[in-house]
Amino acid sequence: MMTALVLATAAAGLLALAFWWIRRSHMAAYVVAAPRELRSMPACDVGQQLLMASATEAPTAADTPGGAGPQAGGAPARRQKRRGPTRRQFLRNMQGIAFLGTITGFAVASLTFLWPDLRGGFGARLSAGSEEELLGYIRTNREPFEFPAGRTYFVEYQADLDREGQYDQLTDGGQARVMALYWRCVHLGCKVPWCQSSQWLECPCHGSRYNRWGEWQGGPAPRGLDRFQVEVVNGEVFVDTGQLITGPSRQTPALDQPPEGPTCT
Ligand code: FES
Repeated sequence: MMTALVLATAAAGLLALAFWWIRRSHMAAYVVAAPRELRSMPACDVGQQLLMASATEAPTAADTPGGAGPQAGGAPARRQKRRGPTRRQFLRNMQGIAFLGTITGFAVASLTFLWPDLRGGFGARLSAGSEEELLGYIRTNREPFEFPAGRTYFVEYQADLDREGQYDQLTDGGQARVMALYWRCVHLGCKVPWCQSSQWLECPCHGSRYNRWGEWQGGPAPRGLDRFQVEVVNGEVFVDTGQLITGPSRQTPALDQPPEGPTCT
């Protein structure tokens, strides 16, 4: 999002610069050709004088019907050699620049939204560190390991408690000892905090509750928390945040975990 903002600002800056340059060169053509007394006037007076002068100026050869020029139009028209773009060219240029700016901004915003951040941000396959360290943190603090880069909670996964093998696919065939939960509530997207006393995840927005494996236990959420696939390579945990796996239905909790104390919401 930040990248999109920076690019959009840069595009707006370039657009403003182009506008300034074209406007400057356009005005310079008139000022250079203006009589000496006009050059010393304030800019707004000069503009007014030039407008009045152009309104009363005799038609040029190109404007004269038949293209005969001075010979057909009476008094010879005073020609001024323009050094910048004409008004029509200026307007065309501006239209083109505005169109390109809009298309570029739209394309940049779309790509930023759709493209996974390959530099290691959310949307990529991320390393979360050593599995032993994650487990150590979870067991010592009795809370999930928060992994902000992946917007993920890592919770301990015990394959023997998952009798149906519901989360086999998500945990490297049941080999991983951690499971990755996306921390957004599946009701309306609030971040779901951990409740230390109940050992559940409890959403403060509308009261949805999930057990420590992110399975629905109450409230308006339509299912359990969504999650990501985890893989453990040489003891290092990788989480694929590019593919969100829909959470389990309300009817199929694998973990039997009543609240272990007072709830927080
Ligand atoms: S957003 Fe969590 S319960 Fe509504």
